[in-house]
Amino acid sequence: MARILGTGIATIDIINHVSSYPAEDDEVRALSQKQVRGGNATNTLVVLSQQGHDCHWCGVLIDEADAAIVENDLKHYQIDYSHCQWLNQGKMPTSYITLSEASGSRSIVHYRDCPELSFSHFSQLDLAAYDWLHFEGRNIDELSQMLQWVKLNYPALRCSLEVEKPRTGIESLFDLADVLMFSRPYAQSQGYQAAADFLDSLRSEALMSCSWGEQGAWLKHQGIVLHSPAFPPAQLKDTLGAGDTFNAGLISALVKGLSPGKALEQACRLAGHKCGQTGFANLDIKL
Ligand code: ADP
Ligand code: FRU
Repeated sequence: MARILGTGIATIDIINHVSSYPAEDDEVRALSQKQVRGGNATNTLVVLSQQGHDCHWCGVLIDEADAAIVENDLKHYQIDYSHCQWLNQGKMPTSYITLSEASGSRSIVHYRDCPELSFSHFSQLDLAAYDWLHFEGRNIDELSQMLQWVKLNYPALRCSLEVEKPRTGIESLFDLADVLMFSRPYAQSQGYQAAADFLDSLRSEALMSCSWGEQGAWLKHQGIVLHSPAFPPAQLKDTLGAGDTFNAGLISALVKGLSPGKALEQACRLAGHKCGQTGFANLDIKL
């Protein structure tokens, strides 16, 4: 079991289940609706916790009623959030999600009026007791300071960085993390239509993954590019957070010392399993 700190967002996800995705200007009725905690970093931690790790979250919580949804879920998964930054102004970030039963796809409209985690808050944490830090690639200026701070003060502490969206200056972070986790939209935004070509183009020394939906994922380590196919579930139910689950599977395997190839396979297995069920419960499966 490893002690893992994740930084990044927690959101309120309002999920409408529909039989198939509506056309623009359609009016459709949802089959069901759920309001749950979401957000990449906290999704990843919820999965890591079920895989047996001691998980901690440092992010922003707004002192308003919706924060209870986040708190209750983190408590349920024994995730420590005592290091969070509490603020009085703003609103918990909210995602309005349409989940199509026909395809398992999720379409997200995200709204945020919530400040990002600051370096000054992060730098007060004692990181000595952690085995692994995971960061979301957002808020680049502050994040750059956080990663440099870690490198300077805790040089042996391993860091992973999720690179999901293109953001100005995000490339400047690539040499500050040990593991880089890229998404298909990020690779495409850089002009690549294949994960292997994208990874091949990068010069960072980090271990790098790039997940590609139903085609599985690719990983580059010491100049060699590996591929794992996806593990499709019997029935595709919910791909919301498939990438966050993949990242959790990768971290869990790497922190246990598994080889990059085995870690890639386990991450795809776990993410495939997640896609066959709704939400993030019951991911304590043996890989
Ligand atoms: P995101 O949630 O960021 O869009 P991806 O779509 O790249 O992430 O999915 C992450 C991983 O989840 C993939 O590498 C794959 O292993 C698994 N996965 C995603 N979609 C499917 C699918 N339709 N069938 C099986 N596995 C899937
Ligand atoms: C899934 C997710 C949702 C959240 C959105 C934020 O990966 O983390 O839970 O609402 O992405 O971008």
